[in-house]
Order: sequence, then C-alpha cells, then structure tokens
Amino acid sequence: MSGAGARRDELVAVYRTASECTLCPLAETRATVVFGAGDADADLMFIGEAPGAEEDRRGLPFVGRAGGLLNELLGEIGLGRDDVFIANTLMCRPPGNRDPQPDELAACRPYLLEKVRLIEPKVIATLGNFATKLITGDQTGITRVRGRPQVHHLGVRTVRVFPILHPAAALRTPKLRPTMSADFAALGRLLGEPAPVQDPASAGQGERRADDAPEPDRGGQLDIFAP
Ligand code: URA
Repeated sequence: MSGAGARRDELVAVYRTASECTLCPLAETRATVVFGAGDADADLMFIGEAPGAEEDRRGLPFVGRAGGLLNELLGEIGLGRDDVFIANTLMCRPPGNRDPQPDELAACRPYLLEKVRLIEPKVIATLGNFATKLITGDQTGITRVRGRPQVHHLGVRTVRVFPILHPAAALRTPKLRPTMSADFAALGRLLGEPAPVQDPASAGQGERRADDAPEPDRGGQLDIFAP
C-alpha cells in the first residue's frame, strides 16, 4: 500500500478510537464525536472551534450556517470540501455552544496532532481565536494576526499556519465578509508555495520532505470519518 493509503488507514483507526473517547466531560453530553471530514491526504487542513448542534447531530464538521459560508469561501478559490480536511479544536459539542475549556482542549489536542501527523497538510488554516491560539501558542487576538502566514512545528510536522476569522464572525458582522474573501484568496496563493522543509529534529520516520515527489494516491474521502 502507498504511503498515503497507509496513513489513511491509520487515520481511520484513530477515528475509531476517538469515536468512543471519554477523556473529558463532554463525552457525557455529546450525541456524536465529530472527528473531521474530507481528504485524508489534503494539502490544506482547516481547524475550527467546536461542533455546534447540527454538527453534533450529523457527526460532520461545519454543516450548519458557518459551514455554508465556509463552502462559499472555498468555492471562491476553486476548492470544495472534499479537496481539504476540516477539523475542530474539540471533537465534541460544548453544551449550549459555550467556549471550549482548557481541560477539554488539552484532552482533544493529541487527536488533533495525530490528524496533522497522518494527513501531512502543507497549510493549516485556523478559523477564529480558539484554533489560532491553540495552534500558534500565542494569545494575540485573531483580528491582529489574521491573514499573515506563520510556520509552526506541530508534533512531528512543520506546517504553514494561516489564521483567518471564524466564518461565524462574518455571519454576525457582514462587513467582515470582504476580509474573509481576501484572506481566502491569500490562502489559495499560499497553497501554491512549497511546503516548509520538515524539521529533522522533530520529523518522524517516513516524513514527506518539501522536495519529495508528490504522493500519487489521493487518500480517503468525507464520510469514512463519520458514523
Ligand atoms: N461548526 C464547526 O464544526 N466548527 C465550528 O467552529 C463552528 C461550526
């Protein structure tokens, strides 16, 4: 099996473990673990905040109103949901859509790092404050850091991180919509740049290097990571 196929199978195994996770109290109130969805070999990964009511019901990320806007913005740069992988800082819905709590973020973080390790995205677009602060480790607010690429080491991977406003912010404040379009256009350009060179100190075995030939096998699709 190709590298991409093996990574996809490992990701499905992580999904199976995650779908029974009881590492934080959200396990008691969720309906479904929302692992993430999309191409298991995507160059672009999105990290949002947490599932809402519709996501909790269907087991898929960004399928409510914010998801509609995310789909629209992806379309503006010629991409669809099955070209990317979409995940969240938390896989379980916080009751009443309250903010993620530190213990919940800490419990879910190893799963997120496994997704990054196995999908090997070139670029991670963080949507909103929670994802951006979690992934960059910097507490500066999203309005100050959005639209500027950074490079970070996440577990064993080195990735470009591109902070963007959360789509829900543009739904609440429509004047932010052009900023989101501009940031998605910049994201499209960033995808055209080579992947950052993997840090040999943190890279694991079988790492894809910036100068490697691309994998021929484009991996798994949307609903293999949902009930
Ligand atoms: N839906 C998600 O899956 N994540 C969010 O952050 C918001 C809506």
